[in-house]
Amino acid sequence: MHRKRPLDDLFSERSRKFELSGIRKMFDLVRPGAIDMTLGEPDFNPPKNVRRALRHAVEEGHNKYGPTAGIPQLRQALAERLRRWDKNVAPEQVLITIGASEALFLAAATFYDIDDEVLIPDPGFVVYAPHVRYCRAHAKPYDLLQERGFRPDHEQLKSLVTPKTKAIVVNSPANPTGGVLAKEDVMAINDLAVDHDLVIISDEVYDEVVYEGEHHSFLGREATTVVVNSFSKTYATTGWRLGYLVADPVIIDRIVGLHHSIVACPPSLTQHAAVEALTGEQDSVRRMHEVFRKRRDLILEPLNAMPGVRCPAPAGAFYAFPQFGFDLTSQQFAMEMVKDGVIAVPGAFFGRNGEHHLRFSYATSRERILTGMERMAGTVERLQKTVPMRKDWTH
Ligand SMILES: Cc1ncc(COP(=O)(O)O)c(C=O)c1O
Repeated sequence: MHRKRPLDDLFSERSRKFELSGIRKMFDLVRPGAIDMTLGEPDFNPPKNVRRALRHAVEEGHNKYGPTAGIPQLRQALAERLRRWDKNVAPEQVLITIGASEALFLAAATFYDIDDEVLIPDPGFVVYAPHVRYCRAHAKPYDLLQERGFRPDHEQLKSLVTPKTKAIVVNSPANPTGGVLAKEDVMAINDLAVDHDLVIISDEVYDEVVYEGEHHSFLGREATTVVVNSFSKTYATTGWRLGYLVADPVIIDRIVGLHHSIVACPPSLTQHAAVEALTGEQDSVRRMHEVFRKRRDLILEPLNAMPGVRCPAPAGAFYAFPQFGFDLTSQQFAMEMVKDGVIAVPGAFFGRNGEHHLRFSYATSRERILTGMERMAGTVERLQKTVPMRKDWTH
């Protein structure tokens, strides 16, 4: 390549808003023999009937482009499933996407304008803030703190709203905290959105993975809402890249053009298998989620037994998000653990309030969880000898 100007000069301002997420960077540190607890991905296979349906889809010739918004059978099956939240949902309100990832981007690009303000959870899933920046809007973080069960403070939310606020992003059950919104939170956020004409973007990809209380969807309430969901976590099909968003048909009509310009249509094969996932037996899905509950209990005990570490039981999803008292940043702590062969994600990657936390995905085997915790206990023992506790740490 021969250029007068460095290639870097040519990149658009927008392209600079994205960096490979910190989680991926930690994942890249995984060496043979290390216990990787970084990725939020079930270690199970998709249910047997769903795998079979995928093979059939290939043989039956569903190897071509399909409808832009998704195949009608899947939109119909999803509408039926979603009627537990909103009995009036119609298939026209459902847009099939390339994972929740695409759905979140579409929602952001459709609503956020230059200089709009968007309330995002802190700590929160890693793509929300870059999406806001990409649209040249401003992210305003709201707090999710361990001492409040990682639920938002309603007064703080109100105080963050200004005439420029366009949207609020919510995620329950939450990544990375495992927090679950109570019904009163959902109602308060809905009311706030109605009062100030905000759009709610509700990421509900862990809706089936709840251990305490129950999931309360934002679907079917009064506010203008885009609900984002996915097959990835519920059916252990992260690699199939299939998600969806649900919104008013007028919103779908607006979004679908952008969706078409990026992906043309969602993958035909996995959509056919997803119809089986929704309409076939659900026992294996329930069993999988019961296993997550056991693993949650398994990881909590050793974590809380470590001096200088505190981890209340997460109410949903499959992440433990302990806080530690050592006077280290979360990245430094994570790097100390790398030396002992266990990889977790530094909490600071998810926002300011994530500092002094680590995220462990326990969507991995019992043995790996136990070995990971043993190794982390070794790290803690070593740190105890060399690193003081922070002054504000009480345990
Ligand atoms: C909160 C949250 N939203 C969205 C996604 C993206 O999921 P998908 O695989 O459907 O793109 C993830 C994946 O980790 C997630 O944790």
